[in-house]
Amino acid sequence: MSPSPVRSNVPGLLIVVEGIDGAGKSTQARRLAARLQKQGHEVVADREPTDGPWGRKLRESAVSGRMSLDDELQAFLEDRREHVRDVIGPALARGAVVLLDRYYFSTMAYQGVRGADTDAIRRDNEAFAPRPDLVLLVDFDPRIALQRIEHSRGDVPNTFERLDQLQAIRKIFLATAAGDATFRIIDGGDSPDEVAAAMEREVDGLLQRINSTK
Ligand code: TYD
Repeated sequence: MSPSPVRSNVPGLLIVVEGIDGAGKSTQARRLAARLQKQGHEVVADREPTDGPWGRKLRESAVSGRMSLDDELQAFLEDRREHVRDVIGPALARGAVVLLDRYYFSTMAYQGVRGADTDAIRRDNEAFAPRPDLVLLVDFDPRIALQRIEHSRGDVPNTFERLDQLQAIRKIFLATAAGDATFRIIDGGDSPDEVAAAMEREVDGLLQRINSTK
């Protein structure tokens, strides 16, 4: 376990929601953003891949045919670089709560499964991307995730979303969480209300810790 992370000296807060496809993380991230807003925080809620040019290219490639691993890694890195420069960095500097649906832990997990070195991915990202104050890993059984994706969303599972891959992706997420004190594992198998409540408890805990050190 790494030591308790030192808070960066920017005034804002960076909270990340991670997890495999179909874990319900996007809905939960939106719900959490609305709650924080209600509490009076300036909230910047966003997702990766972004809706910028690199992110659009990546989303298209998930459907139309995957890029090579090197190209894909490069595209996620460029997408994130722009995101940090244009959105995340400025928001943190003015004291906002930035809530991200996926961040570089997804690159470690998803591109790691394709064979990339997860430690190198982490290093390359942390060279420019601010470290989160809290990572909420919505952990979920990939078999149920796939059923959800197929039946409730009506999607044809894309190439990112096959069972064996999701199992391997989950494993990397859990291994990353085990060695990082900023992670909290949320049981995505609970009801949506219970998942929301668990996430809220973790965020409240973070806000309390920060207020008590002010
Ligand atoms: P996702 O959040 O599932 O988008 P959508 O809501 O449009 O389905 O993200 C799209 C896919 O991108 C998802 O399968 C995970 C993958 N991904 C990576 O492979 N590496 C990354 O660094 C990120 C951020 C996402």
